[in-house]
Amino acid sequence: MTPQDFDYLRQLLRERSGLMLSAEKQYLAESRLLPVARRHGMTTLGELVAKLKAASASPLAAEVVEAMTTNETFFFRDKLPFDHFRDTVLPALIVARAREKRIRIWCAACSTGQEPYSLAMTLKDSSVSAKLAGFRLDIVATDISGEVLERAKSGIYSQFEVQRGLPIQKLVKFFNQTGEAWQIAAEIRAMVQFRTLNLLKDFAALGTFDIIFCRNVLIYFDQATKIGVLNRMARQIPADGFLSLGAAETVVGLTDAFKPLADRRGLYVPNPAKAATSNVLKFAAKA
Ligand SMILES: C[S@@+](CC[C@H](N)C(=O)[O-])C[C@H]1O[C@@H](n2cnc3c(N)ncnc32)[C@H](O)[C@@H]1O
Repeated sequence: MTPQDFDYLRQLLRERSGLMLSAEKQYLAESRLLPVARRHGMTTLGELVAKLKAASASPLAAEVVEAMTTNETFFFRDKLPFDHFRDTVLPALIVARAREKRIRIWCAACSTGQEPYSLAMTLKDSSVSAKLAGFRLDIVATDISGEVLERAKSGIYSQFEVQRGLPIQKLVKFFNQTGEAWQIAAEIRAMVQFRTLNLLKDFAALGTFDIIFCRNVLIYFDQATKIGVLNRMARQIPADGFLSLGAAETVVGLTDAFKPLADRRGLYVPNPAKAATSNVLKFAAKA
């Protein structure tokens, strides 16, 4: 692939999905995109780029974006966010939503579903579950990749996948073995609505959420995109709601719309005193 072809791909990925591909990641693009080129009868990435240039709005471009996403995930990833959810977030929401009896949760980059299903299992099977009786619990799980969402909807995981992070009691209680694989129980699958959604696009129509899990996706975005996504999320969370980020992610230095919750690493709350746009304007002024 020529440097010009690689630059074209980097630009396309940045515009379409926010993915920042650094100059030394050419090997990654080659290893992930050659199979896409071959599936379409091409032998080189030069041919693939030429085809993309001819029709950049084609399904082929969407396929290229999907192939470049990193979908790494596992059940109860990092453990702490799920402990905070059970021990801090749910007890607070059970009191705050006692009248409406409704809690809305959004997993904003859910990959193959382990994160929303971990939340669903926590709602069903934890110290606070009894107090949630009578509550309507909505888990909306979205991702840019239709392929991972199809896997997520099926709820079918390999032996390897169920061995990563999932406590054995939960495997026994919530999964059925089908041949070599395991399928999560229908009652847990029914708790999650999966939808395709690109975080770069407007997501206001999803409505408001008591907690948004946006974990291990902002790391792939540039500064301006992170700020934009966080500020738009701030508009979807009520003053007494929460935001959960991945271990390598933060709002600090990006936006004042959220503030970290003391002693709850990775958990943030809206900061109503601050305008959600302040850093966007600062950033724009520098650009
Ligand atoms: C590393 S996975 C994280 C999965 C899960 N949140 C976790 O922490 O285990 C990142 C996911 O972000 C999705 N993604 C990447 N860019 C996106 C975008 N612009 N909009 C929505 N999802 C995106 C990818 O398809 C991928 O499934």
